[in-house]
Amino acid sequence: MLTDPASDASEDIVLDTTLRPQSFGEYIGQEKIKRNLGIFIEAAKRRGESVDHVLLYGSAGLGKTTLAHIIAKEMRVNIRITSGPAIERVGDLGAILTNLEPGDVLFIDEIHRLNKVIEEVLYPAMEDYKLDIIIGKGPSARTIQLDLPRFTLIGATTRLGSISNPLRNRFGSTHRLEFYNEDEMRSIITRSSRILGIPINEEAATTIAKASRSTPRVANRLLKRVRDYAEIHDHKVIANDIATVALTLFEVDALGLEPTDRNILLTLAKRFKGGPAGVQTLAAVTGEEVETIEDVYEPYLIQLGFLARTPRGRIVTKEGYEHIGMDMPENHQEKLL
Ligand code: ADE
Repeated sequence: MLTDPASDASEDIVLDTTLRPQSFGEYIGQEKIKRNLGIFIEAAKRRGESVDHVLLYGSAGLGKTTLAHIIAKEMRVNIRITSGPAIERVGDLGAILTNLEPGDVLFIDEIHRLNKVIEEVLYPAMEDYKLDIIIGKGPSARTIQLDLPRFTLIGATTRLGSISNPLRNRFGSTHRLEFYNEDEMRSIITRSSRILGIPINEEAATTIAKASRSTPRVANRLLKRVRDYAEIHDHKVIANDIATVALTLFEVDALGLEPTDRNILLTLAKRFKGGPAGVQTLAAVTGEEVETIEDVYEPYLIQLGFLARTPRGRIVTKEGYEHIGMDMPENHQEKLL
């Protein structure tokens, strides 16, 4: 069974580094973002300055980290990678900031999970490249200020709404990553299979594309699993029948729903008469974390139109009922209005 479709398991980190595009030229999709970032980078280079701080937001697995790597590469600077929850103390942030070289990119993933005290240390660092450090406690405490090199902060988040206004306003530009369309997904899969050294035909690439939740990270993971299946059965090319059989074996359906997605829909349909049910209740009954349901499962179910969010809770739609092969109860439609 495949759990957490967009998570960053360690095997995928290795996979990601080989498959990850190294330049805007190799990066498929997100045309508007590439165009805008390309302009900012070119302008900054001509002025001999660093790029303004960049905030990237969008669902997991759409390529925020990849874009940060590309920005650093195009600027020919180093990238330092950390995440909101990894910075536990002000000293952790201080150590990272004081070790930066001029022009470096500092990438903070899940920046919405940065704690408030640390966030406030970040403000003067972003704005004036200054680090305020408090030494001592009580009446004898004093503040010293360190100069930092100019750097570019790239923040990434799945939840723009959880970022405070003062932090958001300190970014020079904010970019929303979109889900990928089927053509883009097919191109990504075809490119990845070339890198992995196993050809794939167009029909099979389409099958995997449709099952990839419009998300490159999911596509690359499914492709790798399908490749394993093809290799142990001595196939030199991934054809459609192999892709289909392998995906069925991994319990991924034609639209990319996995057992947990189906469980969420079935739980709502059977135990809550289609809803509404609060996300906390849904989490308790399905054994998933609230945040995982909200960030990983729900966005795609909503995108497919199988689940709706209402003020009173989550509801299965008519299409959702159809997908799990159940009849929608009478008067259910009214709950959707
Ligand atoms: N691999 C993962 N994301 C990609 C993208 N957007 N373009 C090309 N290859 C990718």
